[in-house]
Amino acid sequence: MIYTFKIFRFDPGRDLQPYEQEFPVDLGDAEKSTVLDALFKIQQIQDKTLSFRYSCRLAMCGSCALVINGKEGLACKTLIKDLGSGPIALKPLSHIPILKDLTVDLKFLVSRFKKVDPYFVPKTQALEPAKIKPTSKEREMIGLNTECIACGSCVSACTMMHWDPNYLGPMGLNRAFCLIADSRDLAGKRLEQVAGENGIYRCHMEFNCTDVCPKHISPTRGIHYLKRKIFWQAVRNLNPWPKGKAE
Ligand code: SF4
Ligand code: FES
Repeated sequence: MIYTFKIFRFDPGRDLQPYEQEFPVDLGDAEKSTVLDALFKIQQIQDKTLSFRYSCRLAMCGSCALVINGKEGLACKTLIKDLGSGPIALKPLSHIPILKDLTVDLKFLVSRFKKVDPYFVPKTQALEPAKIKPTSKEREMIGLNTECIACGSCVSACTMMHWDPNYLGPMGLNRAFCLIADSRDLAGKRLEQVAGENGIYRCHMEFNCTDVCPKHISPTRGIHYLKRKIFWQAVRNLNPWPKGKAE
């Protein structure tokens, strides 16, 4: 069966404006074909200059995320048969600088991680790491959120990224949540970073990030946890009833 793909094209070194290019593609057994299979066919047969990114082809590395028919998704996981019979529109992720065609600049995503110091900082120095039981409440709370593959779909779907390009965004804040909610981590400085001008209060709880995450993570839930944590810390610091003065 022949499917029509409408693909976003833009080469910043050559084009003045982005444009859309149509490619008819015969996918044969569309039952099993993915959007990434179609992109390979276009690149191999029709236009070798088409640029897109991929690596694992197993929905594990996050590098093939695109906007497919208006919604973020992984090209290697999205089956053509689930996209209806009309033309299939492919665009690069939103809010991220474009390198060429469907390929965005990953430096932007890495910068979201860097802003929250994405590595574990132990609260106490010890020879052995403290263990958290897989069945504990703490582990269950962050379990799914640690599965982030940094695909950037949530960043693309978040409307607040449009209004504040410096916003830490759902991907960075999800990472901060995983670390702050871990009782072994020295969360102090990280809490200050996420509570800053470009941090958690930019989130309006629209759940767009949750809606598109291919790993079924809810960054919104993590951001909500951070808001509550900072609120209660502030309340404690206010200390409205200092000892011995209440009566
Ligand atoms: S939270 Fe989900 S959508 Fe966001 S970068 Fe991680 S895997 Fe991708
Ligand atoms: S190619 Fe790795 S997630 Fe799609």
